[in-house]
Amino acid sequence: MSYRYIGNKTRLLPILLDSFQKAVPTGATVADLMCGTASVSEALAQSGYRVIASDLMTFSAHHARVRLCIPEDPTFKEVGIGSYRNILDYLNQLRPIEGHFFKEYSPDGQPGNGQKPRKYFSSPNAAHIDAITAQLNDWVANGVLSEPENSLLRHDLVLASNRVANIAGTYGHHRSKWGNGSLSRLELRPTIFMRKQRIDHIVYQGPAEEIAPLVKADLCYIDPPYMKRQYAANYHIIETIARGDAPEAVGVSGLRPWRDQYSDFCSKVKIRNAFRSIFDSVECDQFMISYSEDGLLSEEQLLDLFSEVGEVTLEKFPFMRFRSNAGGQGGTVMEYLFHIKR
Ligand SMILES: C[S@@+](CC[C@H](N)C(=O)[O-])C[C@H]1O[C@@H](n2cnc3c(N)ncnc32)[C@H](O)[C@@H]1O
Repeated sequence: MSYRYIGNKTRLLPILLDSFQKAVPTGATVADLMCGTASVSEALAQSGYRVIASDLMTFSAHHARVRLCIPEDPTFKEVGIGSYRNILDYLNQLRPIEGHFFKEYSPDGQPGNGQKPRKYFSSPNAAHIDAITAQLNDWVANGVLSEPENSLLRHDLVLASNRVANIAGTYGHHRSKWGNGSLSRLELRPTIFMRKQRIDHIVYQGPAEEIAPLVKADLCYIDPPYMKRQYAANYHIIETIARGDAPEAVGVSGLRPWRDQYSDFCSKVKIRNAFRSIFDSVECDQFMISYSEDGLLSEEQLLDLFSEVGEVTLEKFPFMRFRSNAGGQGGTVMEYLFHIKR
């Protein structure tokens, strides 16, 4: 699953796993409290760890459920139109609907707040997203989709939408000209399920500060945002796809109201207490924390903060900067991995 997500750790996985394996034995429980695309959670599970994954965002919870808790194609028995592949074929051929996505995010739509039409998706793709969402919501309302089945189809729809979105990196803005395959037809593709060693993992959704009291683990991995820009604002469109709702679309970019998913880790004033509230309430003696040289807090400030908890060591790796297609800084940046032992 290739996924352009700020801070996605796919390329760092070998280094991270090596450090995790030195810290705790296979079979131990590892919490991935800000799991994003769930790439680290999945790699941990594949290496034989039991994983507790969580994130603020709904789409992350779908990704984590799919990547951790579903061992094989679900049956979709209650839907009554056949196997997973039959369901995808059916959804891929749905008649388009001119609904919320068409109205708010396509060039032929008329945004509710009177802004100029937005170009996040071609008009046929936006109407196809509306049709699939309406069908999934209908199946949920009729009680025929199980939670894993619902997560799998929303996950597939997020990935399909990412492939045709007319954006330069994040959903903060759409591009003014069509680019990057954004005029190709949206297509749900089947997720391939690898044999899973275990599926006794747990997925939560919510602020890590509130999830922490529920967590008992041998190691806690924390991969917070390191910039001011909120994930809820950068990824508002896939959050709406994941929830299947039709919220007010605000401003030029059509942002969903996202204050309920505001992160204290994006505030220089609040980030220290946000970390402390996790350390204080989670039942765990070891922490691994990813951070970037470009982040809100410096290496020294983080070392000071983490020393309040226990003994701290630090590894550093050069890493390619996240770069939007529109340009940006590029080049390499130091990626930090702090290890705290209480
Ligand atoms: C750097 S990304 C994690 C990337 C992830 N490791 C991956 O490989 O995809 C940071 C994540 O933290 C989440 N986040 C931000 N604040 C949070 C909070 N207070 N509690 C839980 N998750 C939070 C964001 O939604 C985002 O998914």
